[in-house]
Amino acid sequence: MQLTLQSPLDMHLHLRDNQMLKTVAPLSAASFAGALVMPNLIPPITTKQMVQEYKERILEAIDDEVFKPYMTLFFRPEYDYEFLEQVKDDILAIKLYPAGITTNSEDGVDNFSVDALAPTLEAMSELGIPLCVHGETNGFVMDREAEFIPIYERIAKRFPDLTIIMEHITTKDAVDALMRYENLYATITLHHLYITLDDVAGGLLQPHLFCKPIAKRPEDRMALRKVAFMAHEKVMFGSDSAPHPRDKKEAPGCAAGVFTAPIALPALAQLFEAAGVLENLQKFVSDNAQKIYAITPPQKEVRLIKEPFTVPQSYNDVVPMFAGKELTWRVDA
Ligand code: NCD
Ligand code: ZN
Repeated sequence: MQLTLQSPLDMHLHLRDNQMLKTVAPLSAASFAGALVMPNLIPPITTKQMVQEYKERILEAIDDEVFKPYMTLFFRPEYDYEFLEQVKDDILAIKLYPAGITTNSEDGVDNFSVDALAPTLEAMSELGIPLCVHGETNGFVMDREAEFIPIYERIAKRFPDLTIIMEHITTKDAVDALMRYENLYATITLHHLYITLDDVAGGLLQPHLFCKPIAKRPEDRMALRKVAFMAHEKVMFGSDSAPHPRDKKEAPGCAAGVFTAPIALPALAQLFEAAGVLENLQKFVSDNAQKIYAITPPQKEVRLIKEPFTVPQSYNDVVPMFAGKELTWRVDA
């Protein structure tokens, strides 16, 4: 059995920089036609020149594969209309991180009063630049996403023309909120469709499944699966593939992030097939994103073949999800 996907997209991807970029970018480019590239480098991507130079380094790392890096800027409340107008054509979206909530987010936002954010959001709304949000408070870890929902609602109400993407949603509460506002959309990761907190910490601790937001309850996973499996037009695939070297994961103070880029499409095909909804995968991994972001990605056919695929133990020093396990689909190289 085979499945051909047209221009699959990963709308939330961490490619890092330097040697890590050289390791992981070709792996995404082997499976996807494009990806929304996160700006949480050290220092974060905050200028037009940084965006352009980072994009060049990505293109260099993927060599001559067909793969479009859709660039993002790290949200700062001081961005004004003039600056955003200048940088608009170099980016697809701006990513907002609460300060200190996840990897390399120290320079994020700490005042979430809508008035404090309004000038930048107003300009983004006028210029048609989508806002991507890591929606977590600094509350109790299982409640952070739910606690952030009122902030989404305030922004969505005040800026009805602003496209807002709730990144990597993990809860039923987030799915419900998504449906209440026309201008809210969401990405869903592979790992949050597969795992719950039990898989991370219910038995022996699994550092390679530790990420932000942390995986939640079975009923949350069920709510995510429901909208992903029907390829609801408000949701799209964003892997949040977030590579860290093995020694940063298998350590006290384990870094947050699950590395899924090279196994994402086979693992999604396996999950969608088991649910009897393989025909909806195309929408989930490409068509919905094209509509939400109004983009036309490069044409690229990616063929999946239903043959056993043993996931490598590591890619250089990065351990992928399902390392050493067998998946039922593989990407045709
Ligand atoms: C991401 C990373 O490592 O950059 N980590 C994660 O756990 N998902 C950052 C993020 O998206 O939160
Ligand atoms: Zn991320």
